[in-house]
Amino acid sequence: MSYEIQQATPADDAQIEALLDRTFGYDRKQRTSYRLRDGIAPLPRLSFVARHADGGLLASIRYWPIRIARTPAILLGPLAVEPALQGQGYGKALVRHSLSEAKRQGHRLCVVIGAPGYYEPFGFVSAPAAGLVMPGPVAPERFQVLALRAGALAGLHGVLGRTDAADPESDRAPRRA
Ligand SMILES: CC(C)(COP(=O)(O)OP(=O)(O)OC[C@H]1O[C@@H](n2cnc3c(N)ncnc32)[C@H](O)[C@@H]1OP(=O)(O)O)[C@@H](O)C(=O)NCCC(=O)NCCS
Repeated sequence: MSYEIQQATPADDAQIEALLDRTFGYDRKQRTSYRLRDGIAPLPRLSFVARHADGGLLASIRYWPIRIARTPAILLGPLAVEPALQGQGYGKALVRHSLSEAKRQGHRLCVVIGAPGYYEPFGFVSAPAAGLVMPGPVAPERFQVLALRAGALAGLHGVLGRTDAADPESDRAPRRA
């Protein structure tokens, strides 16, 4: 199918939200990762959609600004592909394109909560093993991190926090959902 990857615009928001509800379910915002996103806008220059030549939305990827202790980072996701079109390469194409853009835009660290088998080929490694802590319940094997710059993981450890937190260090103790 002929398609293009384009930067998402505010006009895509309603279609993207509907796609996310279809792929993740209406309770998706209960997840721990949404604590880091709630009330914060996704990064517009890292919000992409895959579109069919006829204009139909096929897939979407977004990133949120977060902190790892005091270090700025980005949170990959949600990534969603139209259910009838999964397994045809759209997801990987969006991840590849957006990570390359993230590097180009100067981001240094990317976190994802997702299937390890899917993200390992892009270079993601275990975040708990790297000393990172989620501020709530998460399956440890799904919690992964990628250094977008060589050496960006060196000496890094701490709790993930919201980018608008006044003092990320004050949010050290993990809480239950
Ligand atoms: C998960 C998802 C984003 C993958 O995108 P996609 O376009 O369907 O998948 P792609 O065609 O890019 O990749 C397919 C490959 O990924 C693998 N894959 C798909 N889902 C996987 C998973 N959960 N764990 C491990 N591997 C997975 C497939 O086995 C396939 O492997 P192959 O290339 O060796 O054959 C998509 O299926 C989706 O939207 N799922 C529902 C929402 C979701 O779970 N999102 C995950 C965000 S972490």
